[in-house]
Amino acid sequence: MEEVLTNPQSGYYMNRDVFGESGDFITSPEVSQMFGELIGVWAMCLWEQMGKPEKVNLIELGPGRGTLLADLLRGSAKFVNFTKALNINLVECSPTLQKVQYNTLKCEDESVGDEKRTVSKLSGAPVYWHASLVQVPSGFPTIIVAHEFFDALPIHQFQKGSRGWCEKMVDLAGDSSRFRFVLSPQPTASLIFLSKRCQWASAEELEKVEQIEVCPKAMEITEQIADRISSDGGGALIIDYGKNGIVSDSLQAIRKHKFVHILDDPGSADLSAYVDFAAIKHSAMEASDDISVHGPMTQSQLLGSLGINFRVEALMQNCDEKQAESLRTGYWRLVGDGEAPFWEGPDDQTPIGMGSRYLAMAIVNKKQGSPVPF
Ligand SMILES: C[S@@+](CC[C@H](N)C(=O)[O-])C[C@H]1O[C@@H](n2cnc3c(N)ncnc32)[C@H](O)[C@@H]1O
Repeated sequence: MEEVLTNPQSGYYMNRDVFGESGDFITSPEVSQMFGELIGVWAMCLWEQMGKPEKVNLIELGPGRGTLLADLLRGSAKFVNFTKALNINLVECSPTLQKVQYNTLKCEDESVGDEKRTVSKLSGAPVYWHASLVQVPSGFPTIIVAHEFFDALPIHQFQKGSRGWCEKMVDLAGDSSRFRFVLSPQPTASLIFLSKRCQWASAEELEKVEQIEVCPKAMEITEQIADRISSDGGGALIIDYGKNGIVSDSLQAIRKHKFVHILDDPGSADLSAYVDFAAIKHSAMEASDDISVHGPMTQSQLLGSLGINFRVEALMQNCDEKQAESLRTGYWRLVGDGEAPFWEGPDDQTPIGMGSRYLAMAIVNKKQGSPVPF
């Protein structure tokens, strides 16, 4: 999964812009400007709870086109003390998407003495790119946003059988021109991740499942988030589709807004898996005693509590009928429950209503108390 998505030559994300109607799938920030604006409200509330520090590392993991951050910066432009405090750090593996983010954030390169830096003209904040979270310099209070980042991290799949739990592997089919799934004939080293995940599950939960997906990379990155927030202060907001418990069999491939077979032309379709929010919570809590974990709550609860109803009404005051229709459509896609009345996708398979399929979880330094609106 990691190879298919991030191989430097032919990884799915590495050489193209995959988002939007003309791409393969649409994410919440691309649906409506209100999404990024409200994440901005969340970030500003956390900054206030942190005591309004003069410098903050605002880190986004997997920023896609950079739309969430652009809307966050535009939406918070009037709160000058907040925007002046920001050092923007983007964790992005794709050179192509880094260029798209540079343009979306209206970046310009500046020289200050001998030093060169990149600045977003949306707010004047310096912008830095990194291939991984550990490369982001620490030492400043931190606000981390991860929207649809964890679902792109590689999972291992295990299946219960007469030999106990076996890992699902990819093999060559008979004529060696196609791939197929097989069960490992021998125990694999990855079983160690399965036993770690099972420690956090009840006997009843384990009895019900024949398959389990485990994402060691999500556990590792969560530990890095918890460590950073413990030492530097601040918090993280993770939003993704997922479950607050063991995920069984969710790996999916999407091309041109349609589900396709996972092994069909690897690298040409997006691969993603449901995020196991219970595993994220346990990984964070095991990593540090100085953080607290809140949620998950549904995206609809999060955006509702952050004021999406007021925002949509305010925007409706100042727009023509076409813009109003687009605002209504966007609103229902973000908070709707799957029966969203205004949304008709390109075809029946398009996921509708992100309101309850997407969950939000916050990890914060205990010093700040509970984050809004958890
Ligand atoms: C599903 S997209 C989400 C984009 C954006 N957050 C949004 O909601 O529109 C996943 C993003 O994470 C990036 N990404 C995936 N795996 C990554 C990794 N291992 N390290 C850094 N970035 C990664 C992709 O290039 C892409 O920008």
